[in-house]
Amino acid sequence: MYLLTVVGLCAAATAARLAWALLKCYVLPSPLNDIPGPRSHSLLKGSEDRLQQRDAWPFLDQLTEDYGQVVKLTSLFGKHVVWVFDPLAMYHIVLKDQDVYEESPWIIIGRKLFMGPGLLSTTGAHHRRQRKLLNLVFSIAHMRRLTPVFGEVASRLRTGIETQLQASADGEVDVLGWMGRAALELIGQGGFGHSFDPLVQDVPNDFASAIKDFVPTIQSLMIYLALIIPFSPLIDACERYPALSAFVGRCFDCLPHAGLRRLKAIVDVLTSTSRSIYAEKQAALESDAAETKMRVLEGRDLMSVLLRKNTRVDAADRLPAREIIAQITTFTFAGTDTTSNALARILHLLCLHRDAQAALRAELLEARARNGGADLEYDALVALPFLDAVCRETLRLFPPVPWVSRVTNKDARLPLAAPLALRDGTRASALHLPARTTVVLAIHSANRSTQIWGADAREWRPARWLGTLPAAVAEAKSPGVYANLMTFTGGGRSCIGFKFSQLEMKVVLATLVSSFRLSLCEGANADIIWNRAPIAYPTVGPTDKTPRLPLRLEPLGH
Ligand code: HEM
Ligand SMILES: *[C@@H]1O[C@H](CO)[C@@H](O)[C@H](O)[C@H]1NC(C)=O
Repeated sequence: MYLLTVVGLCAAATAARLAWALLKCYVLPSPLNDIPGPRSHSLLKGSEDRLQQRDAWPFLDQLTEDYGQVVKLTSLFGKHVVWVFDPLAMYHIVLKDQDVYEESPWIIIGRKLFMGPGLLSTTGAHHRRQRKLLNLVFSIAHMRRLTPVFGEVASRLRTGIETQLQASADGEVDVLGWMGRAALELIGQGGFGHSFDPLVQDVPNDFASAIKDFVPTIQSLMIYLALIIPFSPLIDACERYPALSAFVGRCFDCLPHAGLRRLKAIVDVLTSTSRSIYAEKQAALESDAAETKMRVLEGRDLMSVLLRKNTRVDAADRLPAREIIAQITTFTFAGTDTTSNALARILHLLCLHRDAQAALRAELLEARARNGGADLEYDALVALPFLDAVCRETLRLFPPVPWVSRVTNKDARLPLAAPLALRDGTRASALHLPARTTVVLAIHSANRSTQIWGADAREWRPARWLGTLPAAVAEAKSPGVYANLMTFTGGGRSCIGFKFSQLEMKVVLATLVSSFRLSLCEGANADIIWNRAPIAYPTVGPTDKTPRLPLRLEPLGH
């Protein structure tokens, strides 16, 4: 009875909210109405269908061609959304006025529910405090020490692939699957000094399947999750009181819905794994056995570094246990699919551009020979020009995260580098955004501009990074933390793991490209499509649902 009343109230509140949203967006005047953009494609869904479709890329490119760097789109229930990649606007959003452009409160609640109070789920001063300490952990000095840790994982990856190839008749392997396993093990070892996957043999792994099923499960449950949002104070309370949290957990287990129970099981696996990783480290740190203690005191992984730094900083800057535990889930979640899909994309491109593959292999083999046949150290590896160009060019043209959004927390003035011709015929050098306007950082569109890169801007051509860059690139004051690009965004919420991820990618590429010749499969498996999603993924053909990237690998025997 009680449950029914609650569900009824939620439904009524949702209906009233919906009516208000439609009225506000389609009927009431708004300064956003003057911004040019395509007509809404549907009353309820706006252009969301076009944006969310698997093959959204032509729609996105068309937007740029028709409207340029600032576009008004219509989202669910007629909501106006500002799609933007004007450089000055981006600078204001992620840097200058970053306190005004926050993550959507919905997204924050959802993440907190599933990952705990980690970097992805906190805002304002709380987020800044976490970030201050964690920035130290991701410094270049620590990346340098991580290089051999990644090298060891990459060599197990090579052995795993070789073993699979010996048993395979056609020499095909699912490269996406392998990159997923490798990325998880890389964050396991490099992030926490913990092994998630031996790679050299197949063992079933709850944690890996939980990470893999997480996003699809959430996506299939969106409607139910919207009902949870009004209960966000309860979520905060659960975080404080374990008994309450256990009770809510038991209620979840009783729900008559397999999807919701699966979600609960996934969250349980993620949290319990993160807790036990933390407990193990903390116990080692407090251990009397000198050798055990040393494992953390000298550990190269991010978690060991964090625990060491956490004891040394001022009490006000120190992170409590539950926030450290939440970072474990957060890093794993943020660092796995992004890195694996970027790597898969590079390997796919190297099959489409065999000359680039040969050039990269030559560079790698020569550098290794110069190094007496040993794996390269950090400085030598990151200095390889063509390897770097391949990474930059791929991340420029195919950013794994195609866009991220922010919501204004008060009325804001957003300056533009290029004045915008408004619908009423005037030109604006700044936009007036009412409070709670969603602004989308159009990462995908930002760095494929023909104005900056010339006519071949949309071609994959790593060599463009080798000579002198176009003056427009050098002159542009990009807010991006990486290579003038928006791929990892910029400012206080930019990707904290971008150096970590660059290093992972370079170590894995160095190992794989010097060990195997890669080519496209023949027949049906040759038709690889990249689909739009929060993180873009490959499939065979445009309709198959299983993410995979079959490629042919031939051992080179160096
Ligand atoms: C190619 C690989 C990667 C890409 C393309 C990528 C991209 C991004 C993007 C676009 C954001 C959101 C920035 C924003 O909202 O402004 C982000 C945030 C984040 N990334 Fe990455 N990422 C990658 C790898 C990693 C790795 C390996 C880690 C961890 C070791 C990581 C950890 C994080 C964290 C913790 C955040 C949240 C930062 C915050 O809100 O303070 N990422 N990443
Ligand atoms: C990438 O996009 C940003 C934002 O539009 C711009 O400032 C920057 O110059 C671009 N960089 C390159 C290399 O195209």
